[in-house]
Amino acid sequence: MSFPIVRNRRLRGNAAIRNLVRENQVTVNDVVQPIFVTHGTNVKSEIASMPGVYHWSLDRVKEELDEIVGLGIQAILLFGVPDHKDAKGTSAYMDEGIVQQACRYIKEVYPDLLIIADTCLCQFTDTGHCGVIHHHPMTGAADVANDPSLELLVRTAVSQAKAGADIIAPSNMMDGYVQAIRSGLDEAGYENTPIMAYSVKYASAYYGPFRDAAHSTPQFGDRKTYQMDPANAREALREAESDVIEGADFLMVKPALAYMDILRTLKDNFDLPLVAYNVSAEYSMVKAAAANGWLNEEAIVMETMTGFKRAGADIILTYFAKDIARYLQK
Ligand code: PBG
Ligand code: ZN
Repeated sequence: MSFPIVRNRRLRGNAAIRNLVRENQVTVNDVVQPIFVTHGTNVKSEIASMPGVYHWSLDRVKEELDEIVGLGIQAILLFGVPDHKDAKGTSAYMDEGIVQQACRYIKEVYPDLLIIADTCLCQFTDTGHCGVIHHHPMTGAADVANDPSLELLVRTAVSQAKAGADIIAPSNMMDGYVQAIRSGLDEAGYENTPIMAYSVKYASAYYGPFRDAAHSTPQFGDRKTYQMDPANAREALREAESDVIEGADFLMVKPALAYMDILRTLKDNFDLPLVAYNVSAEYSMVKAAAANGWLNEEAIVMETMTGFKRAGADIILTYFAKDIARYLQK
């Protein structure tokens, strides 16, 4: 008997056989491109910490949409940067809010492009928190009030659906948010609008560049009373389970890179489509290293994305979406 009997290299001998046995692939249908829209005219301004990502005014955003659609990408994740902030985040749910205007415009020019609207209040509140603040009656400590924030979140979701958003993606991590939004949408006649729940969202340092981009840095404290502790994995099951019970249509894990175990756990425990959010700092780190010539950007990006798929992601929200679509066309 010759040694070794098991020769795994037999299936790695050339590109064709490797292609034949490959278990996971990234396709253009799996990726979603985030975009940032803002007020004003003739704005195309690069976000310093996110090279290749821009703030767009509505009179110019078609340039970006043309590119996205031209590359075959089917969905965008829409973020608004408003010109007015107040305690109740009013500009998040006004009919003339930047996200609402953008939805109407995008549906006019590209009716088939899926708009996933990020539904939160932090870009719109003067505190930069994801809800309204209340003070503890005894200690005076400030925190985000759960139920009053839900009410505003529901108004935001309904106004986005009314403006043409195809999918509502609530990211504020209040308890009961999926149920509140589901019933709000249903009452308003949007019972067929899916909810992509940011189910498992950690209080992460990986959101740093995004907060520059969205002008949503908390003005005091942090988000640790509502976003999850990065040390916890079993708690992710509870967060996902409540969202499933409340009627979520998709589950999300955010960030993605440091949380691949959580993707796998959710994949094994739930059967809803699973979304990985490859967040801002995960993008910026690669761009910065690539700009220095320290790594092969395309190879790193595709290896990371394949890793998300292998971990269980069905869908990847990533600032690299256009880059990926370009790589796949080669
Ligand atoms: C808003 C929101 C954040 C992100 C998406 N929606 C920031 C936060 O919670 O501070 C982060 C996205 C990224 O870093 O790419 N709630
Ligand atoms: Zn928020």
